Amino acid sequence: MRAVLLLPLFGVLSCAKNINVRDERELEWWESTIVYQIYPRSFADSDGDGIGDIKGITSKLEHVKEIGAGAVWLSPIFQSPMYDFGYDIADFYAIHDEFGTMEDFEELVAKAGELDIKILLDLVPNHTSNESMWFQEALKGNEKYLNYFVWEDGVLDENGVMQPPNNWLSHFRGSAWEFREEVGKYYLHQFVVGQPDLNYHNPDVVEEMKNIIRFWLNKGVAGFRVDAVNCLFEVDKELFGGKYPDEPPSGRTDVDSGSHDSLQHIYTKDQNETYYMVYEWRDVFDEISKQDGLPRLMMTEVYASIKDVMRYFGEGEREGAQMPFNFDLITDVDASSSAADIKRAIEKFLTYKPVDKNGNWVVGNHDKSRMATRYGTALVDGINMLVLLLPGVAVTYMGEEIGLVDGYVSWEDTVDPSGCNTNDPVNYVKYSRDPERTPFQWNSDKNAGFSTADKTWLPVAEGYTKLNVEAQKTSARSNLKVYQALANLRQEKVFRYGRYESIALNTDVFAFKRWYNGETYLVVVNMRDSEQEVDLTYFENVIGKAAVVLRSVQSPKNEGDVFDVASLPVAAFEGIVLKL
Ligand code: NOJ
Ligand code: MG
Repeated sequence: MRAVLLLPLFGVLSCAKNINVRDERELEWWESTIVYQIYPRSFADSDGDGIGDIKGITSKLEHVKEIGAGAVWLSPIFQSPMYDFGYDIADFYAIHDEFGTMEDFEELVAKAGELDIKILLDLVPNHTSNESMWFQEALKGNEKYLNYFVWEDGVLDENGVMQPPNNWLSHFRGSAWEFREEVGKYYLHQFVVGQPDLNYHNPDVVEEMKNIIRFWLNKGVAGFRVDAVNCLFEVDKELFGGKYPDEPPSGRTDVDSGSHDSLQHIYTKDQNETYYMVYEWRDVFDEISKQDGLPRLMMTEVYASIKDVMRYFGEGEREGAQMPFNFDLITDVDASSSAADIKRAIEKFLTYKPVDKNGNWVVGNHDKSRMATRYGTALVDGINMLVLLLPGVAVTYMGEEIGLVDGYVSWEDTVDPSGCNTNDPVNYVKYSRDPERTPFQWNSDKNAGFSTADKTWLPVAEGYTKLNVEAQKTSARSNLKVYQALANLRQEKVFRYGRYESIALNTDVFAFKRWYNGETYLVVVNMRDSEQEVDLTYFENVIGKAAVVLRSVQSPKNEGDVFDVASLPVAAFEGIVLKL
């Protein structure tokens, strides 16, 4: 009888005491980190050849530490003829000479370890370089390596002239097929001609890629960003009588017929086998982690529908990537977006992701116009407030911490195949990715302190004498200082474990609330050049006064200022973090 009476009481007590125990579980290193993307050619050049390199990165790791990032993702550093600036890999096991040596890389990992920074590499599984041993052997007729690639017979047109097998297009314009005399067939390249696609229906290719993963993880690398994952598999041509079928037109009127966007990629993207390949890779990651105790991180690069992106997390018992990149803040919104658009873009990933998985926030990379250019420089702090204070992992593309803008790259200076392949000195700007790859801006010296060379591989953006790390360090208020403060703030439990709710207060002002164990923070971002007064009591349990914890550079407020939450004045493009 006694036990019966006590049990319910015990249940209530232990429940109250343990209410947050599940939430406060110890997080894996990556769950609360900031991942900082470095594009190695453009970060820091140590040997004066105008091209960034590994020693340069090592010498600047303190900067990464100072902004509070816990991991660095390096775009490819492997041996490459650089037709796609490293995404065309000739030897997956060697370091590209312009970047340095294996010793340089090992030093980088060691130095990063001292600073408690994890190193993540870029895995490019979809294709190799046409200069890889594999492709070279294929051209020699070596049967084993022929099967590493995707070959198809050409078709004769009405004039008896040989044409590519079908209408498939490269991401960088024109046919995705290239004829090779030596083989008498066309090979598939979804990217540049020098990037032959690998054949994932061949178990040898699958094993090669797993060995590459093992090699680098065994070197102490903490994980990989995985490139162009959704292009891995093509449709099984046996379903189409042994010939790869044409893809249907997209119907888009804003692009010409050479553009990749002119087709719907129903046979070359998002094929079902892709997800299971990713789950197999995850098993390899876990196999190494089990051996040395360091949990490894996989981040997948996929621009696809939200439902397809979610499949990378895993399925049933199978685990996949911990971080399928969330590109919604790149693809769905920009400077013209309303607060409601921002709310919808943010909520999309959070709504679809499995409850037990993390969100992640990405606003830029080496393929997309820089965040400060897309959103406008006045919104840099506001956008960084979203990236660093929303629930989940924050991702920063180098330069976002100082509001780096796109550089101007003339047609003569353009080197990106995506721009060059347009053959159009006017419209190349629509496609070129060079503007977001211009050198990092360290200080007001020659070449912004990036390099001592007379000519850098891409020109340094104008305005660097004012817009650089050193200037922002010495100025009382700067994007950099706001970023550092945000990185500190994000260490608080409320940003690690706290709940999240958002409201579009009107067309311009977006706000969200994070709360945990009696602590409540409010983040308010005005997307427009307008003055506002907003009422934050639309949030549940938000009444009374709140103090300013952090504010954007142009904010007229001061830290510590106290406001009535029912009538908070908001300045143009202002970003504010308040504590209730
Ligand atoms: C995505 C990479 O981010 C991009 O830079 C590259 O051109 C393609 N994948 C092909 O590897
Ligand atoms: Mg160099």
